[in-house]
Amino acid sequence: MTDTPCAPDRGRGAAAVLTGLGAWLPPRRVPNSELCNRIDSSDQWIRERIGIAERRFAEPHVATGDMAVEAGARAMASAGIGAVDALVLASNTPDRPCPATAPWVAHRLGLPAVAAFDVMAGCSGFVYACTVAAGLIASGTARRVLVIGAETMTALVNPLDRATAPIFGDGAGAAVLEAGAPHAEGALGPVVWGSDGSLSDAISVPAGGARGRHRRNRTAPEEHFVHMSGNEVFRHAVRRMTAAARHAAAEAGWVLGDVDRLIAHQANQRITATVADLLEIPAARVPSNIEQVGNTAAASVPLLLAHAADQGELKPGHRVLLVAFGSGLAWAATTLVWPAGLSARLS
Ligand code: COA
Repeated sequence: MTDTPCAPDRGRGAAAVLTGLGAWLPPRRVPNSELCNRIDSSDQWIRERIGIAERRFAEPHVATGDMAVEAGARAMASAGIGAVDALVLASNTPDRPCPATAPWVAHRLGLPAVAAFDVMAGCSGFVYACTVAAGLIASGTARRVLVIGAETMTALVNPLDRATAPIFGDGAGAAVLEAGAPHAEGALGPVVWGSDGSLSDAISVPAGGARGRHRRNRTAPEEHFVHMSGNEVFRHAVRRMTAAARHAAAEAGWVLGDVDRLIAHQANQRITATVADLLEIPAARVPSNIEQVGNTAAASVPLLLAHAADQGELKPGHRVLLVAFGSGLAWAATTLVWPAGLSARLS
C-alpha cells in the first residue's frame, strides 16, 4: 500500500459487487426476563409486540470500533483479500464524538493510510454506506471497499426506559464490495434513498451535540439517552420502507413477485411483516434474526445478510431486495442477485 490519496481510475463506471460478508456478536445474551427485572414489561409483551426473545450486550470495555474490527476482518477473510482502497463505517454509536471511528478500525485491521470515514444515517447507515462505496467504485476512486455496520446501542439506551430498552442490541456486520461488471451476480442495483429531517425528533439523543452546548452543565442524565416516539416511527417505517422497496425493485426492472428474499432492517418483527404483506412478499421469503439479536441499528442489515447466507437462506441466483429505515428520518433500498461462492464468516 502507498500513501496515494486515491486509486487510479481504472474501472470507472464499474458496479460494486458483493464478494465478502462477516459478522460478530458479543457473547453475552440478554433474555427478555433480565430486562423485565428493571422495566415494567413482560417476556410475552416483548415477543408479541416486537418479536425479540434476546439480544446481545457488549461488555463495558468493548466499543463499536472493537466490534467493527472483528466483523471487518471476517468480511475480508470471506472475500479472500488482505487490503482495500477505502473503509466506510456506518454507526450511530461512534467510540468518541471526535474523531471518526473508521480510521482507528482501519489501523487495527492493518490497513495503513487507507481512506476511512464514518457515515451516520440511523438504521439505514449500512445501505447508505454501501451506496457511498458504490459511488467510489463507479467513479474509479476505489476498486475495493470494506463497508461495516457496527453499533454499541447499550451506550445510547436507557436501561430503565421501557420504550427503547427491549428493542436494541449490540453487534457488527461487514461486507466487501469490489469493482465488477454491472450485470454480474452480486452487483448492487440502483439505490432509492431519502430523508425527512422534519421528523428528526422522532428518534434522537437530545444532549451531547453542538446544539446543546450552551447548557452542557445543565443536561439531565436522561437527555444523553435515545428517545423514541414508537408509534410515530412505526407508521413512517412501514410507509417509507414499503415505498422505497417497491421503487428499488422497479428501478432494477423487477416485479415484486420476482423477489426471492426481502432483507429488511430488523426494527420490529411487526414492521417487517407489515411491509412484506403490503409488498405481497410471502413470509417464507423474508428472513429474520430479530428474535435472537434485537434491533442492532446500522449493524442490522449486514448481520441479517451474514446470518441468512450462513443458514443457506440466500442461494445463488436469488433476487434479493434490501430495505432499511431509521433515525433522521432516513431510508434506503437496493437490490442484488445473490452471487455463487460467497461464504459468510461468522467466526
Ligand atoms: N412493555 C409492556 N407494555 C408496554 C411497553 C413495554 N415495553 N411499552 C408500551 N407498553 C404498553 C403501553 O403502555 C400501552 O398500554 P395501554 O394500551 O394499556 O395504554 C400499550 O403497550 C401500547 O403502547 P404503544 O406505545 O402503542 O405500543 P406499540 O404497540 O406501538 O409498541 C413499540 C411500542 C416501541 C414496540 C413500537 O411502537 C415500535 O416498535 N415502534 C417502532 C420502533 C422502532 O422500530 N424503532 C427503531 C426504528 S429503526
